[in-house]
Amino acid sequence: MSLPDGYSDVPAGKIAAVVTHLEMTARPAPRPDPPGAWSLRRVETPNLDWFRDLYRRVGEEWLWFSRLQMADAELAAIIHAPLVEVYALVVDGSDEGLLELDFREPGQCELAFFGVTSGLIGSGAGSWLMNRALERAWSPPVARVWVHTCTLDHPSALAFYQRAGFRPFRRQIELADDPRLDGTVPRHVAKHVPVIE
Ligand SMILES: CC(C)(COP(=O)(O)OP(=O)(O)OC[C@H]1O[C@@H](n2cnc3c(N)ncnc32)[C@H](O)[C@@H]1OP(=O)(O)O)[C@@H](O)C(=O)NCCC(=O)NCCS
Repeated sequence: MSLPDGYSDVPAGKIAAVVTHLEMTARPAPRPDPPGAWSLRRVETPNLDWFRDLYRRVGEEWLWFSRLQMADAELAAIIHAPLVEVYALVVDGSDEGLLELDFREPGQCELAFFGVTSGLIGSGAGSWLMNRALERAWSPPVARVWVHTCTLDHPSALAFYQRAGFRPFRRQIELADDPRLDGTVPRHVAKHVPVIE
């Protein structure tokens, strides 16, 4: 499908985002860790409620909804897959960051989900987590590590990924039902994307 130039109407009740795909095809030079009392915990066979809770706390403000609309079996098929790795960034014993690495495509790693909870944004924790993500993503013999981010995400995310060494290579438009209108996420979140009914 090709979109016409100029403005296109987005139907009421829908959200629209510009999605940028980024990749790196060689392991970047390591970057220094910002100081902070963070640790990383691999979560083997994540409990589904635990996963949904952390996904919500990291992503709700950015209208992450895809994993919240999955039935248990569908979610488990992904996050319990042997080639999918889930990690939590831990602060003072609390899980405050989410990293999901997907190695299911041979020779590749996708940073499928990446983020920290609101109190840690701008603290250096994101950069620390990216350093851990890249160490892990490049530790098997992969040829490519990739990620995508969209205009619903935190406004620093795209530049953050580029500073980490990712190169943008593809742009898409994504339309979806507004997840605040069916109760997937609370009505009051993501004020940067007002609800239009
Ligand atoms: C996207 C996201 C990870 C970006 O993280 P952030 O909070 O801007 O990241 P940081 O605070 O680690 O980094 C900001 C910069 O300040 C630097 N910095 C911050 N505090 C620092 C400190 N105390 N000492 C040294 N450097 C510091 C970092 O090194 C970093 O520079 P870099 O990007 O060149 O490494 C974060 O905003 C987030 O999790 N958002 C919510 C979820 C989301 O939108 N995820 C992305 C969608 S896929």
